[in-house]
Parts: sequence; structure tokens; C-alpha cells
Amino acid sequence: MIAAISENRVIADKNGIPWYIPEDTKQYKERIKDEVVVYGNGTFNPDEREIPPSKHQIVLTRSEKSIDRECTTYVTGIIEAIKVAKDFGTDELFILGGGEIYAAFLPLADRMVLSEIPGEYEGTVYFPEWNESNWNESKQEDGYEEFTITHYERKRNPITEYLKTSRE
Ligand SMILES: NC(=O)c1ccc[n+]([C@@H]2O[C@H](COP(=O)([O-])OP(=O)(O)OC[C@H]3O[C@@H](n4cnc5c(N)ncnc54)[C@H](OP(=O)(O)O)[C@@H]3O)[C@@H](O)[C@H]2O)c1
Repeated sequence: MIAAISENRVIADKNGIPWYIPEDTKQYKERIKDEVVVYGNGTFNPDEREIPPSKHQIVLTRSEKSIDRECTTYVTGIIEAIKVAKDFGTDELFILGGGEIYAAFLPLADRMVLSEIPGEYEGTVYFPEWNESNWNESKQEDGYEEFTITHYERKRNPITEYLKTSRE
């Protein structure tokens, strides 16, 4: 999961992202380049001029939607999103928000790369709370002026653990 979050976990207010940090947008675009990514329909912008640099965009919606573009697929659920990603031969799926989508994928995620924006913001959309005892801070990327990037790795994946136990 990749997100930019404030100290009080705000990711957006009613007008969108409440900060303007071009340096973060730049590193984000570089990170998702050529990857298979997932958005919620509240975040994805179907405008031709806004196509992200990722290899393929999978967009979650509960309604039937389609788009005449090879690099974008609409899906109606998480399992379908994962299946579509598999068809692209990727072994890593990037979850790019917004709030509903981060909350839906948090139990399945094994890595979070968070741009941590200093300060508290008023907001309407939040990154979900995560249980710190399940995650290790694995890496910090410094060198950015207005934020820090922290990588978090899940200590163990509950689904893998479950599958292992059921075999024993
Ligand atoms: N700071 C950051 O890093 C960051 C990153 C990304 C986004 N954002 C911000 O977050 C805001 C949007 O967040 P949001 O929570 O309102 O919306 P969202 O998570 O982007 O999208 C929500 C939509 O996704 C679909 N959806 C959600 N769960 C689903 C499920 N289980 N199965 C199928 N479809 C599902 C529904 O679409 P339908 O209504 O079409 O059914 C739902 O309305 C925007 O302001 C955006 O700028 C911030």
C-alpha cells in the first residue's frame, strides 16, 4: 500500500489531498511506474490526460463500468482485482487508495510505504488504523524536504499462517 498521510492519518478532505508537495508526487509516480496498481472509483480519474505511469490500473467499483482503454480494467470486488493482477503476471500488487480501498486491503497487505507529512490536518478521509504489533518499520527514506518515507513490513501474513496451520 502506498499513501501520503498526515500525523493524524488524514489522506484527504472534501476537496481532495489537503497539501501540495510536488516532490511527493514525483517520487510516487516513479514508484508506481510500470507496476500493476489498484484504485477505488473515488480516486481514479478516467480522463485520458490523467493516465498514471503504471503498467495497468485496476479500478474497484460496485457498479458495472467499462472503459475503452487497454491499460485500465474495472472490477467489482477484491478477489476479482487480485485475479486480474495475476493475469498480468505480476507478483506484487500496489494499492493506491483512497480510504475505502486502503481499509479493504489492509488485512491482506504485507508492505506499506507511507509518505509521512508533518502536522495534523482537518480531513474527511483517513488511512485505516493499523495494529503496530503486527508491523515492523523496515526502512526510512530521508532526503525529502517536506516529508519522510517509512516502509512497514507485516511480521507475518495471517492468510499464509492460516494455510500453514490448516495443513498441520
Ligand atoms: N493521500 C493519499 O495518499 C491518497 C491516496 C489516494 C486517494 N486519496 C484521496 O482519497 C479520496 C478518495 O477516498 P474514498 O475513500 O472516498 O474513495 P476510494 O477508496 O478511492 O473509492 C471508493 C469507491 O470504490 C468502490 N469500492 C470500495 N470498496 C469496494 C469493494 N469492496 N468492491 C467494489 N468496489 C468498491 C466504490 O465505487 P462505486 O461508488 O463506483 O461503487 C466506492 O465508492 C480522494 O479525495 C483522493 O484524493 C488520497
